[in-house]
Amino acid sequence: MTQPPPALTFSVLTLFPELLRPFAAEALLGKAQARGLVQVQLRDLRQWSGNRHHKVDDTPYGGGAGMVIRVDVVARALDALRAEQPVDEVVMLTPAGQTFRQADAEAWAAQGGHWVILCGRYEGFDARVERLVTREVSIGDFVMMGGEAAAACIMEAVARLVPGVLGDQASHEDDSFSSGLLDYPEYTRPPVWEGEGVPEVLQGGHHGAIAGWRRTQALARTLERRPDLLPTAGLTPQDSAELLRLGATPEQLTGWNAPEPPASKPPRRKRKAAADPV
Ligand SMILES: C[S@@+](CC[C@H](N)C(=O)[O-])C[C@H]1O[C@@H](n2cnc3c(N)ncnc32)[C@H](O)[C@@H]1O
Repeated sequence: MTQPPPALTFSVLTLFPELLRPFAAEALLGKAQARGLVQVQLRDLRQWSGNRHHKVDDTPYGGGAGMVIRVDVVARALDALRAEQPVDEVVMLTPAGQTFRQADAEAWAAQGGHWVILCGRYEGFDARVERLVTREVSIGDFVMMGGEAAAACIMEAVARLVPGVLGDQASHEDDSFSSGLLDYPEYTRPPVWEGEGVPEVLQGGHHGAIAGWRRTQALARTLERRPDLLPTAGLTPQDSAELLRLGATPEQLTGWNAPEPPASKPPRRKRKAAADPV
């Protein structure tokens, strides 16, 4: 009997496939592949260099430091991958892309299919590569030496949401960001460590009380650490009341005093008074 294809395939185009090989083979990502739920293909961009020195980059037009990855090399690589199997999305990793968030991880996992991830190095890609991709993605406001670590982050975040990858499907629903809030604190044995005990409510076995305590903790943590998440967290009236009791201001719950988005047109300049006729 033939196995159904994996729900999600990542083809990572990189100059350093060996950086990602052990990462993809170990832990839950390795297990998900062994179970045929997810597939990670590591592809060496140099294979499509088109020259015997396997050179994929060149100096930037206009001068300046560093090297730029050539668009023709990327185009050949993408054509070759498409010839092997249909490609649904092509993601260019770049600090100038849209910041990747949990909502993206959820959407990508739900969409599934074959995703090609382009990892840059040096000064990044020739700007014309933008024409070849469906998305430009950053993992945060910092610059790394290459896209491989970003690809690893994204694959971890998406693959764990593919049904069946995590043993307990409920275990990601309370995770930070999934619920709109930061996760509540967790404890395990020992019950007391260096004088600090585990909250009693967690040891009492009363499920309602535990759920209530966890919700309050998630609200309190989010208020303290990431109040910017509150206006979009889907708060219930009880959540809002609890947050106000915890010291939140009404503005923090609604975000109504958040900075205005920039006006679509700059305000018109006042006209200079016409000069007196001479
Ligand atoms: C040194 S960076 C290039 C930085 C580029 N000159 C800039 O300032 O936007 C080399 C490669 O690392 C990857 N990279 C670095 N930081 C990243 C980030 N925050 N998110 C996603 N990819 C990143 C990209 O693939 C990029 O092409």
